Amino acid sequence: MTAPVITGLTDPHLYSHGDPHATWARLRRECPVSWHDEPDHEPFWAVTTYDEGLEVLSDWKRFTSTRGTFLRPNLSDPYPGAGVMMTLSDPPRHDVIRKAAAALFTPKAAARFRARATEVSRALLSGVVDAGPHDFVNDVVAPYPLQVIAGLLGVEGEDVERIAGYAEAAVGNIVDLDGTAAQRAHLEVLAYYADAIEERRARPTNDVVSAFVLAQADGLDITDDEIILTCDNLAVASGETTRQVLSGGLLALLANPVQMAALRSGAVSLKPAIEELVRWTTPVNHLMRTAVADTSLGGVEIKEGQAVSVWLPSLNRDEKVFDRPMELQLDRSPNRHVSFGGGRHFCIGAPLARVMIRVFLEEMMRSVARIEQVGEVRRTPSYVTNSLDCLPLAFYSK
Ligand code: HEM
Repeated sequence: MTAPVITGLTDPHLYSHGDPHATWARLRRECPVSWHDEPDHEPFWAVTTYDEGLEVLSDWKRFTSTRGTFLRPNLSDPYPGAGVMMTLSDPPRHDVIRKAAAALFTPKAAARFRARATEVSRALLSGVVDAGPHDFVNDVVAPYPLQVIAGLLGVEGEDVERIAGYAEAAVGNIVDLDGTAAQRAHLEVLAYYADAIEERRARPTNDVVSAFVLAQADGLDITDDEIILTCDNLAVASGETTRQVLSGGLLALLANPVQMAALRSGAVSLKPAIEELVRWTTPVNHLMRTAVADTSLGGVEIKEGQAVSVWLPSLNRDEKVFDRPMELQLDRSPNRHVSFGGGRHFCIGAPLARVMIRVFLEEMMRSVARIEQVGEVRRTPSYVTNSLDCLPLAFYSK
């Protein structure tokens, strides 16, 4: 088979077969804020250095989220939820929406998911330990996050699997977020939540749908459609990312047996190890903002309306910020990674993600004595998610 020709940052092959870290390292060195005009894609700026990247993410007055937060081939196409959904709004609207849900996402609230995370991890692991080869991505970690937090997202019982499937199709292994399969999946998630809103209005529970419905009754200027779009976003944002830390993280540990042993023996504690795995895997490849007016960034002039993308894995490997950034160091300190973003849109689910990752690793180390890689890893051909499509492993209890 001939190797695919890789043309640039929007080329899916760069992520499945190429070495994006080499491309990003060259951009950091030579042109931290660079202009990209690539085939079949509207042109955009790419920011690859830490300081400039955080400047974009933190300064919503210059770089708005209201025109989308991921690159798309046709940036001028309408973006569902633009200016309305939590992720697609700027302050003051963003602050108000985020506040309505914030109490459900504090570290204390996240800690309450420990028991459920333990139960789900045990069930998923027991299905594969001493049971021959499995695909760790799809058989074990893909179902994990949504099964743990489905109740929080207002998804219950038999619907969990169905909504998890749609959420995956909506953002999973695709390059074009506007594709018809993704659109159809989004519609299914939206329809589900339209029903859930009516139910929670009659009988509120302790989930995000109820939090928004109650805030709406208290005078928050949010329509049912906006609640639905925000919930859709939550279902999609939580599933893909957490599993990528676990699959990409385990792959990194398998490649670094000394560090894996240190983690197992307790020589390295889980707290810094989790942060390093989150830095190492950086599940979101890029975030996009749009310039509100002509501005300059890193000495480069940016015009009003131009798309500015920030490449998080590159920021997380910036030599000016991280000591030996291309090495996995589970006890890395300090570790100011940007995998959860930066500024006002910093991931609201970070405490939950940390709990889920911790519990899964604890359970895996408890029940799995030996891990063998039994086939080839397949990486996702996507410039949006930095993930694995397939990781064939065998787990042994002895
Ligand atoms: C390791 C796992 C995760 C990673 C790496 C991650 C990454 C991110 C990033 C980079 C952003 C910033 C988006 C932006 O600036 O436009 C973000 C925002 C967000 N994340 Fe996460 N996320 C993770 C887990 C979760 C979980 C578990 C949930 C929900 C339960 C969640 C819900 C959200 C939401 C709602 C936002 C938007 C916040 C806002 O706009 O204010 N994420 N996440």
